[in-house]
Amino acid sequence: MVSQSKVRIMIVGCGGISFMHVNNLIKLSNAEIVGLCDVNPGNIRRLKDHFPILEKVREHSDYRKMYDSTEADAVLVLTPHTLHFNQAMDALNKGMHVLIEKPMTTRVEHAKKLVEKASKEKRVLMVSYQRHYEPPFRFVKARIESGSIGEVQFVTSLLTQEWMRLTRGTWRQDPELSGGGELMDSGSHIVDFILWSTGLKPSEVFAQVDYRGCKVDINTSLTVRFSNGALASVSIVGDAPCFEEYHAIYGTRGAVFYDNGRIRLLDAEGSFSTIPLKMPFEPSNPDRNFVMSILGLEKPESPGECGLRVIELTEAALESARRGEKVSLGE
Ligand SMILES: NC(=O)c1ccc[n+]([C@@H]2O[C@H](COP(=O)([O-])OP(=O)(O)OC[C@H]3O[C@@H](n4cnc5c(N)ncnc54)[C@H](O)[C@@H]3O)[C@@H](O)[C@H]2O)c1
Repeated sequence: MVSQSKVRIMIVGCGGISFMHVNNLIKLSNAEIVGLCDVNPGNIRRLKDHFPILEKVREHSDYRKMYDSTEADAVLVLTPHTLHFNQAMDALNKGMHVLIEKPMTTRVEHAKKLVEKASKEKRVLMVSYQRHYEPPFRFVKARIESGSIGEVQFVTSLLTQEWMRLTRGTWRQDPELSGGGELMDSGSHIVDFILWSTGLKPSEVFAQVDYRGCKVDINTSLTVRFSNGALASVSIVGDAPCFEEYHAIYGTRGAVFYDNGRIRLLDAEGSFSTIPLKMPFEPSNPDRNFVMSILGLEKPESPGECGLRVIELTEAALESARRGEKVSLGE
C-alpha cells in the first residue's frame, strides 16, 4: 500500500505503446505520472506534445538515474523485450511495484526471479495482457470456468498479422532486443489467452517455425498437449496481409468461439447461438487494475505468474523448433 492518495508512476520507454498507457493513467484520479525515461528524447517530446498534461514531468535518458532521483511508487516498463528483466528487477530492488509490457521477459529464469522477488517484497508485479480486461475475452473465460462446455478437450487458435513487413528494420526483428519474433511479440497474447482462459497446464509442445528469410520466427505452428490430455493447435502467422484473431475451445459438452471480437456458442445438441455485443463485463485496462491493486482495492487480473507461464511455453516451443522434436515442460 502507498501512504499518499496518489500512486506516483514512472515510465521507462516512451514509444508506441506508451500512448495507450498514458491515456489510461491520466483518466485515474489516484495516479500521477512523475517521471519519463527514453534513450530517444524525441520520443518523450512526441508523447508530451500529444499529452500536454505531461509537459512538466521530468525527463531522463537513463532509467537507473530516474529510479535514483525520483520519488515514486511504481514503474511501467514499456521497452524492447530483452530490456524488461533488468529494468523491472532494478525497480523491485528499489521497492517499487512494476507493470511490464508483454512478453514479461524473454527467458524463464528471468520471469521466475521477478515473480519470486515481487512475492518476497510484497510488491505488485503485473504483465500488460489487455485481453484480461476486455469483455469478449472475459466472457470466454467465464464460460469455460462455469463448466457449461464441460471439460476442455481441444483448442485451436489463429493470429495473423502483417508483422514481417511492418517490423522490418526495427528492434522487433533484432533477436538481441526482441528475444524472438512474432511468437514472442503478438503471439504472447495468444499463448496467454489460451492458458489464462482454460487454466490448462501444458505438458509438451511441438513447434515448427518458418523464418521467411528473417533473423526471427515469422510463422509458427504449435501443437500443445496439456496435463489433462487436451490438445491445442496454434497458428501464428506473421507474414499475412491483415490482422485476424480466432479461437475455438471445444469441451466435452459444447464449444465457445471467439472470432475477431464476435462470440458464438455451440451446445451439446449441436445448436449455435451468438452472444449480443453488450457483455456482462465493464471494460477495464491493465493500468487501472495496476493502480487499484497497489492501493489494495482490486486483485491483479494479469499477475506476473501469467507472464511466467507464457514464457515457459514459448521457450519450450522455440527449443522444440530448434531441435525438431517434442519438448516436455518441466523437463
Ligand atoms: N499490449 C500490446 O498490445 C502491445 C502493443 C504494442 C507493443 N507492446 C509491447 O510494448 C513494448 C514496447 O513496444 P512499442 O511498440 O512501444 O515499441 P517502440 O519501439 O515504439 O517503443 C520502445 C521505446 O523504448 C525506448 N527504449 C529503448 N531502449 C531503451 C532503454 N534502454 N531505456 C529507455 N527507453 C528505451 C525506445 O527509444 C522507444 O521509444 C514491447 O514489450 C511490446 O511488445 C504491447
